[in-house]
Amino acid sequence: MPESINIISSLTKEEKYKSLLPQIVELVRDETDLITNLAQICAALKYGFFPDFSWVGFYFRRGDELVLGPFQGPVACSRIKIPQGVCGSAVQRKETIIVADVDKFPGHIACSSESKSEIVTPIFYGETVIAVLDIDSDKYSNFDETDKLYIEKLCRLVSELMSQI
Ligand code: SME
Repeated sequence: MPESINIISSLTKEEKYKSLLPQIVELVRDETDLITNLAQICAALKYGFFPDFSWVGFYFRRGDELVLGPFQGPVACSRIKIPQGVCGSAVQRKETIIVADVDKFPGHIACSSESKSEIVTPIFYGETVIAVLDIDSDKYSNFDETDKLYIEKLCRLVSELMSQI
């Protein structure tokens, strides 16, 4: 298992994802513990995209709520009622939501006053949303279609990891 993730800071966003995703696949390949793998993915994303990602974490669906899972960043809300917040909305809509300015998203849940923009991607088991990956940034409009493309790819990997337990 690789002991570190190498990302060159001068790369473009797309180049960073293209470099990071295979490293994440290697990172989780031989480990069977889901929590370990999700924790590693959070760290790989947060530090791979430093300083653009201020918070990276998973919420697991538990009935009509989302419960905080592995994350990197400041302490966050432990539970979110579906369909509240960006996370709950992504579960309800079953699609990635990109928020350029969190103050303009009705019902946004502010876990940190520093957070300015956000992307939330659902993780599926079949047709059912079983978790979300939430990424915040302290910069406005940090996320775009490139993030969506690669974060959705990553979430398909997470879906495979989650379906193996
Ligand atoms: N902003 C999220 C809540 C989770 S924190 O960002 C970590 C939301 O509106 O659902």
